[in-house]
Amino acid sequence: MEILIRDSAEIGCILGAKIIARVIREKPDAVLGLATGRTPLLLYQELIRLHRDEGLDFSRVTTFNLDEYIGLAGTHVQSYRYFMRENFFRHINIDPQRTHVPDGTAANLHAECRGYEQRILDAGGIDIQLLGLGRNGHIGFNEPTGSLRSRTWIKILSEQTLRDNSAVFGSFDAMPKHALTMGIGTILDARRCLLLAFGPAKVRAVEHMVEGPLAAICPGSALQLHPRATVILDENSSAGLHYADHYRWIDSQKLDWQRNG
Ligand code: GLP
Repeated sequence: MEILIRDSAEIGCILGAKIIARVIREKPDAVLGLATGRTPLLLYQELIRLHRDEGLDFSRVTTFNLDEYIGLAGTHVQSYRYFMRENFFRHINIDPQRTHVPDGTAANLHAECRGYEQRILDAGGIDIQLLGLGRNGHIGFNEPTGSLRSRTWIKILSEQTLRDNSAVFGSFDAMPKHALTMGIGTILDARRCLLLAFGPAKVRAVEHMVEGPLAAICPGSALQLHPRATVILDENSSAGLHYADHYRWIDSQKLDWQRNG
């Protein structure tokens, strides 16, 4: 796991956007795995800026989002499909047909999960998977104790996640309690993973993900198995790490070709 600690979430997001932009420049038909939540918003804004000011071309890019609430159509303002359209897709030159988000209204949700896996395979697999981290260590909507080898599946959201995300729904009761999400096995199949975690609320989850045991109780810790996982943190989210000086040292000694962005 490559740990990059930056002074602020903004600087971390700009670095994350640079990493993704480089993937697209090297492979114009790249397949991106995308995430929702507050964390990647600035990263999307930076990618939009790179598109507008520096001609970053999304015309041949394909995307697969991690997850979607069950029961919310893509027109619902709290759906992740809507989030992606408003915060990213409508600002860049991506072909909407190439953007994939699990369908939380599918009549047969199990078939939707199988079909989603197949569509990822048919696209040639994911080149880089963007991830956030839940306060309880979840990635996508893979909540604690979910199988580390899971494929796209239906998950019940934890009370912690419902509390954390319910503000935008107005109330806990108004929020869907179930979601479709790529499994942890699906995420680990991406050729590269890029996880962002910022702010003091993520300290414990970051500590377990990076330095704790590989354990289903912290789904993010599965990234310890990934051959090419980059984690971008800020001063706040990295405050609980015991080996922060080591990560900074490694970062400072990189050869030019090993540097990101
Ligand atoms: C949500 C999403 C995750 C996201 C996480 C953190 O529930 N399903 O993909 O990474 O929770 O959200 P935030 O970035 O808002 O802290």
